[in-house]
Amino acid sequence: MAAEGPRDFGHVPVLARRCVELLTPALTRRHPDGSGAVLVDATLGAGGHAEWFLRELPGLRLIGLDRDPGALDIARDRLAPFAERIALVRTRYDGLAAALAEFSYGAAESIDGVLFDLGVSSMQLDRAARGFAYAKDAPLDMRMDPDLPRTAADILNTYDEAALVDILHRYGEERFARRIAGRIVRQRAHTPFTSTAELVAVVYQSIPAAARRTGGHPAKRTFQALRIAVNEELDSLRSALPAAMAALCVGGRIVVMAYQSLEDRIVKRVFADAVASRTPIGLPIELPGHGPRFRSLTHGAERADAAEMESNPRSTAVRLRALQRIDHEAEPRRATGKGDS
Ligand SMILES: C[S@@+](CC[C@H](N)C(=O)[O-])C[C@H]1O[C@@H](n2cnc3c(N)ncnc32)[C@H](O)[C@@H]1O
Repeated sequence: MAAEGPRDFGHVPVLARRCVELLTPALTRRHPDGSGAVLVDATLGAGGHAEWFLRELPGLRLIGLDRDPGALDIARDRLAPFAERIALVRTRYDGLAAALAEFSYGAAESIDGVLFDLGVSSMQLDRAARGFAYAKDAPLDMRMDPDLPRTAADILNTYDEAALVDILHRYGEERFARRIAGRIVRQRAHTPFTSTAELVAVVYQSIPAAARRTGGHPAKRTFQALRIAVNEELDSLRSALPAAMAALCVGGRIVVMAYQSLEDRIVKRVFADAVASRTPIGLPIELPGHGPRFRSLTHGAERADAAEMESNPRSTAVRLRALQRIDHEAEPRRATGKGDS
């Protein structure tokens, strides 16, 4: 393993060594340098994790997916030294099966490893014009893919109050959803929302002073909720995970890193079902003795250690879970140890 990690491109990859450690056994089964193996990075971003893998395993081929064309441009530049071994595709990750078909990996069981590093990248947060960050005044956009038809401002200015309450409650777990939605509707009757600062001000006024002092920035949950609604993030994840797992060959591995509880809950449930069940992925019926089987590679969710949290604040929220696809007939071996975190 290399002593030093790859360069910093503004987004420092989280738990990069652990991801390499977890996926390498699946990627080196044919050859120690990864020759003949294919890794799908379903959330390529700035290519930080991808660069780690391509450096560590000089024979590995990588297919990188991202819905954000700006991220793909950055990754293409960063990964130029490995151009012969990579293919980058602009797609939502639930389009994974179609993307793989483009490269003749259409059949199930053709991929050795899959990595998901969910959420937004530091570049997306830092690029104020994208409107993801409550700390920067910017147009209320929040689209990861600029071709999406609906911005955060569109939602705020056109959805009825009940729909706004639902979004804030469901995707932000915001206990003051009703108060915030009510104030949004009253304010937009005079002046439609255009900027993040206007939304931050409304959230701030809607939350009682005592509650504003706890639980981080008062607008954090509202921004998360809108981002999830604009980008349909949870639906995309719900269908992407089974597709990714169905693409894995026997012995193949999947690692998923989530940074907020809604996404982690989906990962936890899909993985638990996969370990417990013999149901063929994607089929609504139980066929005993058939279908892919999985074992857990992690004890509950893994976290970053204190040193990484200090050097890379983004890592403080991470929850990493990993599975290995096992032989159809083998008994699943569950991770033992402490309960889930
Ligand atoms: C946390 S970043 C990945 C960072 C990357 N691992 C690195 O080290 O540079 C997540 C990326 O996933 C992308 N993304 C989020 N949701 C997506 C989806 N549904 N389909 C495809 N890409 C998505 C975002 O555009 C972003 O670039």
